[in-house]
Amino acid sequence: MSRADRFLKACRGEEPDCTPVWFMRQAGRYLPEYRAVREKVSFLTLCKTPELAAEVTLQPIDVLGVDAAILFSDILVVPEAMGLQLVVDDGGPQFPEPLRGPGDARRLHVPDPERELRYVLDAVRLVRKQLAGKVPLIGFCGAPWTLAAYMIEGRTSRGFERAKAALLDDEAFAHQLLSRISEALALYLQAQLDAGADALQIFDSWAGALAPADYARLGAPYVARVVQQLRRDRKQPVIVFGVETGELLGQLAATGANVVGVDWRVPLDEARARVGPAVALQGNLDPAALLLAAPAVEKRVLRVLEEARRAGPGGHIFNLGHGILPSTQVENARLAVDVVHRGLPAR
Ligand code: CP3
Repeated sequence: MSRADRFLKACRGEEPDCTPVWFMRQAGRYLPEYRAVREKVSFLTLCKTPELAAEVTLQPIDVLGVDAAILFSDILVVPEAMGLQLVVDDGGPQFPEPLRGPGDARRLHVPDPERELRYVLDAVRLVRKQLAGKVPLIGFCGAPWTLAAYMIEGRTSRGFERAKAALLDDEAFAHQLLSRISEALALYLQAQLDAGADALQIFDSWAGALAPADYARLGAPYVARVVQQLRRDRKQPVIVFGVETGELLGQLAATGANVVGVDWRVPLDEARARVGPAVALQGNLDPAALLLAAPAVEKRVLRVLEEARRAGPGGHIFNLGHGILPSTQVENARLAVDVVHRGLPAR
């Protein structure tokens, strides 16, 4: 029974039988089983075919022994459903006609999830049936700021200067765009909960591009609005995660989320000091650590567990500080899971 509930217990700040672990991007290109499916279909076809999305969602559960499944999909399917054409080629996912200004925000509509994102919800229902309670299922979305930035840049970016130039000083455009995205996300996450997701993660991957004062206007309030709109009948926890958020951890903790994801730039005991006692922490091994030889992997996993112990009570879910790298050896990911489950040697 314990594998089934250790993740949810830790999210609620309780003490499970051992530290739960899952990895962002755990269904991805480092897995031969995933690459075999991707040889047959494109990335978007995979996202939009519930049977295949369910299949790859389940792959890491048995291969790695992780304590939670995360739905296979992408954060960019929501902007697509809002009306922005999405293409995925060798340069990654792109919007060929990105938003240029306030007029373009009016092009976007708030989708009905059961109609326009039905393939995601069908995948949630299939995964839940196939998991049969073995481990919980995490649904997800991108955060309003991260999605807005992608919709303006049109593709992944280093500094997000186009998005900042458009939004930092145009309060009306920023509010209109971020509000509309937030509205779409609240409906989308609620639909995932109603379809059976046991927890949710909001990816504000690009939060760290903003100065704290700008994140306080354009980032955190919209995440909070999404979280606070959810009806969580089974008390499903919400995780909020971003990259380079050292200076933003307090704001993330105040959004109403139950868990704050931390990247590897801030040790977990320091993160605890920044978020306070009321939220659980998730993280935060550098994904590059899984490229090292086995003894170094073990040493670095134990170091994270020690920092979590120093962070004190409140809950810890072991994860990477960002997505697992495509060049990761599967046996190193499996080793990390085993070391986390074994835990620290008794003092
Ligand atoms: O964590 C998971 O396993 C769940 C599935 C998931 C994917 N993307 C699958 C994916 C999730 C939660 C995401 C989130 C996502 N997608 C983010 C935020 C999190 C982060 O990583 O910072 C962003 C910015 C995107 C947009 C995106 N999707 C980019 C920039 C890329 C190209 C880069 C890359 O890694 O290829 C993708 C493609 C993508 N999304 C892949 C996967 C498994 C690789 C696709 C493939 O070639 O098979």
